[in-house]
Amino acid sequence: MKSLAPPLRQIDRTYVLYQSRKLTYFGGCDYFRLSSHPTVLAAIQSGLKKYGLTVAASRKTTGNHPLYEKLEEQLADFFDVPDAVLLSNGYVTNLVVAQTLAGTFSHVLLDERAHASLVDAAVFFDCPIVRFPYRNAVAVTRIVQRIGQQSRPVLLTDGMFSHDGELAPINAYLRVLPRDAAILLDDAHGAGTLGKTGKGTVEQPGVRSNRIIQTISLSKAFGVYGGAVLGQRSLCNRIRERSRFFGGNTPLPLPLVNAALRAVQIVKSDKSLRLRLERNLRYVKGELCRTEFAIADTPSPIISVVPRRSHYSRGKSTPGSFVTRAVLPAVISDLRFRASTAWNSLATWCVLCPNTPVAMGSRLEAS
Ligand SMILES: Cc1ncc(COP(=O)(O)O)c(C=O)c1O
Repeated sequence: MKSLAPPLRQIDRTYVLYQSRKLTYFGGCDYFRLSSHPTVLAAIQSGLKKYGLTVAASRKTTGNHPLYEKLEEQLADFFDVPDAVLLSNGYVTNLVVAQTLAGTFSHVLLDERAHASLVDAAVFFDCPIVRFPYRNAVAVTRIVQRIGQQSRPVLLTDGMFSHDGELAPINAYLRVLPRDAAILLDDAHGAGTLGKTGKGTVEQPGVRSNRIIQTISLSKAFGVYGGAVLGQRSLCNRIRERSRFFGGNTPLPLPLVNAALRAVQIVKSDKSLRLRLERNLRYVKGELCRTEFAIADTPSPIISVVPRRSHYSRGKSTPGSFVTRAVLPAVISDLRFRASTAWNSLATWCVLCPNTPVAMGSRLEAS
């Protein structure tokens, strides 16, 4: 199918097979490669043996299981929030929050580059939607002046934006939003990877506010599958009570919940994961800085590579090697590298451009 990227096969934690070529993998979101971590895989196997595949019903009928509550407690503990609700995936977390809080807010303020799930969620809030320019707190200030301090908006933003690794200016938003406003923060990419302890984008600038509703995916840093809403107990209970999705959906297969429990434990206890990711990130950025590419200064494992020279403009040239749509869904004017902890110590990787083959011998640490 033309609309899909060509198939990509993971060979191991470092390499992929793409159109019959073995390439070093700088794509995807399995930042700690936990999807192939032996402990996580063992948890899936033992979970399958112990609990079977599916509960085959919603948690509001016969499908509840102590393991779901255990994972919710563990997520609330890891992210240091009052409560967490487990959902089937990261995409629906935002829809469920909006569905549950429909009619609560006067306006949705939507970052123009927000993830598709937030764009869809905006509609569920059932109030006027005002888009604002990318990560622009000044524009948000102007909108708040226009709609008035008495309004009650909800601002929808990614925490770490997946297309360039930039972070949302959450502190600035909190300063300019009316007192009763809330932020729906989609932290699919920041959860686990950002902050001293992996609590995500909120930990990066040291934000603490009960006005933030953080949503996460378990299929990125945690390497498993699923999603969760993190927030106040009242909101989580409201989701359990009122959300049509929560009430009408079969929850995650229990082997995955068992695996997610292990993955969260690993991310919590293995401090070396984030250190290695940081070291690899510094190394890749350092090497790329010496090339013709400009590298954005962000703390995130998504590296946006922008060519300094105009002849690499979008559409004119596409890179060879692993920098292809399948691995990095972009042309040379907008490349992204995703750092991970998986690279071998002697791996050599290269970005091949039409005129400037850039080869870098990497000393990236293996996990
Ligand atoms: C910013 C963001 N939000 C939500 C999602 C959806 O998460 P999931 O894949 O768990 O449904 C993604 C996924 O790719 C994402 O990048």
